[in-house]
Amino acid sequence: MKRTKVIDALKRTDFGSEITVMGWVRSKRGSKGIFFIALNDGSTIKNIQIVGEDQNFDEETVKLITTGACLRVVGTLVESPAAGQASEVQARQIEVLGTCDNTYPLQKKGASWEYLRTVAHMRPRTNTFGAVLRIRHNMAMAIHTYFHQHGFFYFHTPLITASDCEGAGNMFQVTTKNLYDLRRDDEGKIDYSDDFFGQQVALTVSGQLEGELGATALGQIYTFGPTFRAENSNTPRHLAEFWMIEPEMAFYDKQDLMDLEEDFIKYCVRWALDNCRDDLEFLNKMVDKTLLERLEGVLKESFVRLPYTEGIEILQQAIKDGKKFEFPCEWGDDLASEHERYLVEEHFKKPVIMTDYPKEIKAFYMKLNDDGRTMQGTDVLFPQIGEIIGGSVREENYDKLMAEINRRGMETEKLEWYLDTRRWGSCPHAGFGLGFERLILFVTGMQNIRDVIPFPRTPKNCEF
Ligand code: 4AD
Ligand code: MG
Repeated sequence: MKRTKVIDALKRTDFGSEITVMGWVRSKRGSKGIFFIALNDGSTIKNIQIVGEDQNFDEETVKLITTGACLRVVGTLVESPAAGQASEVQARQIEVLGTCDNTYPLQKKGASWEYLRTVAHMRPRTNTFGAVLRIRHNMAMAIHTYFHQHGFFYFHTPLITASDCEGAGNMFQVTTKNLYDLRRDDEGKIDYSDDFFGQQVALTVSGQLEGELGATALGQIYTFGPTFRAENSNTPRHLAEFWMIEPEMAFYDKQDLMDLEEDFIKYCVRWALDNCRDDLEFLNKMVDKTLLERLEGVLKESFVRLPYTEGIEILQQAIKDGKKFEFPCEWGDDLASEHERYLVEEHFKKPVIMTDYPKEIKAFYMKLNDDGRTMQGTDVLFPQIGEIIGGSVREENYDKLMAEINRRGMETEKLEWYLDTRRWGSCPHAGFGLGFERLILFVTGMQNIRDVIPFPRTPKNCEF
């Protein structure tokens, strides 16, 4: 079954050689006893043209060459007379590996994103999803390469955990208990002692706390794995299962952290421009005409570094000048995505790293500023996306961290392993989390986060 991939076949110039290609028929047309097949094998957005003469093939085989069918083609590589392609294949032998009749769900062009989500097994065969999925792979490679080259260690944090890092309580519980027969104690509480782990556990919302243990030993680590949030957010930016990259660095202060956030994102965007050109050009033509311009724009700009308090002042001024927002934005409010996008897309017209948030709207682990009311968070806000990175300097002082934990009424019993990092040899450190799918949204120009992951999980939706 030796074959040449289409991406390689299109680069070959040894015209006259025999070649075998395999793939799926994108389209077939014919005239005057000659047929032309556009064949795609997923290695590239580009198709290779197969040319055949009807008289050389039996009629039954030719009839089976329909859109979606899978073929093995043996023939001669020839220089193509057609514009836009160097080579094509003059077919000598065609074998239909998998037929595809007219019940094929992707017959029609221009199927909606919503419809395509219902045919997940076919979705990757479309041009757009092929492009998105190749870019997704490339972004994963960019991320591993960046961190490896910068001396970070890939650190594996658990998916099943007893700790709620973000403290938001949006966790998916994991249990082997018989849900039809739950034993409760005298106070009505469920007894987990006979559950698989002997305690209540859930899928992780973030690997950060465990990551901090890695960073305070190895210096610099990163995680890259699935993350689960049972938040009932039915938006184009939220998934219940998404992938997150979480670097954590010892001896980093706020400045170092912001520099890393900016350098890292720019590296990923540059990687896409350097390695995914064909796919990006396709998306720029078919999905978002400003995509390439926006990607190149991000590389040129220095990100704005904006304290939350100044951000609120800008938003208040905009309201005075007649701007209407759906949600309030007084000092102390969590910014809604409309506020973030106003700052990024209308006011500054470039990415913003927002810093020093009120402590009431951020997680317990962030380092408290001397003003006693703001914390050293460093979120990166992006055009089209809003928040793409959430990060902060961590509170490394045991007493201050405990004071915040107690103020929030959190249980410390299950956090002792984490607090140990502050008990013995505590060190200044910082880190952030990048939502992988939000990065893919930005890099592809797609509008809905469900369309940048092969199998999206959202409220009331867990198909396939
Ligand atoms: O801002 P978040 O909640 O931060 C954390 O989890 C920290 N523990 C990260 C850290 O400092 N190590 O999430 C980080 C990022 C967000 O900025 C967003 O890009 C993405 O994760 N994200 C989601 N992406 C898709 N669907 C969701 N439901 C998401 N929730 C967060
Ligand atoms: Mg956040």
